[in-house]
Amino acid sequence: MAPSTSSSVTLNINGEKHTLSVDHRTTLLDALRERLDLTGTKKGCDQGQCGACTVLVDGRRTVSCLQLAVASDEREITTVEGMAEGDRLHPVQQAFLDLDGFQCGYCTPGQICSAIGVIEEHAAGWPSAVTEDVRPEAGPPPLTPEEIKERMSGNLCRCGAYAQIAQAVARAAAETRTETEGAAA
Ligand code: FES
Ligand code: FES
Repeated sequence: MAPSTSSSVTLNINGEKHTLSVDHRTTLLDALRERLDLTGTKKGCDQGQCGACTVLVDGRRTVSCLQLAVASDEREITTVEGMAEGDRLHPVQQAFLDLDGFQCGYCTPGQICSAIGVIEEHAAGWPSAVTEDVRPEAGPPPLTPEEIKERMSGNLCRCGAYAQIAQAVARAAAETRTETEGAAA
């Protein structure tokens, strides 16, 4: 008997479990868009170069066009559809709206997912390629425009909204810090 070319996977997306049978070659991106109608995540290059398909998998930024659906079995996946809490936008979404980070909207879902990952990675003290002092005891470096640009560099925007996107990430990061400090006080 020929080996099976499909498997059952359970994808936990935005807090909801979806069990489906997928061909082993199906990417997470295609499973989201074509099988589950979660079309907020966009397909740009389909080869890991543009960042349009970025989602969070177990809280980490992941380009979903390069991840197989079968490798996403039982993982926690967050897409742009899962960022808002009811009518309350995520601080990154609100900052993009207020500071005009949106333009064509095609790259925006990936930019938002990536920005949320950036803010968490930075808060956790992860260095970037432009961080000068990478010693763990140095803690998170200041989230300068250079740090934001470097950390967001996997997400391309062909219409040049970068300045507004960087400002939106900076504001959302500052708000998140303030909220965290407030909660800890
Ligand atoms: S569509 Fe995945 S990186 Fe471009
Ligand atoms: S806002 Fe989408 S490509 Fe620029």
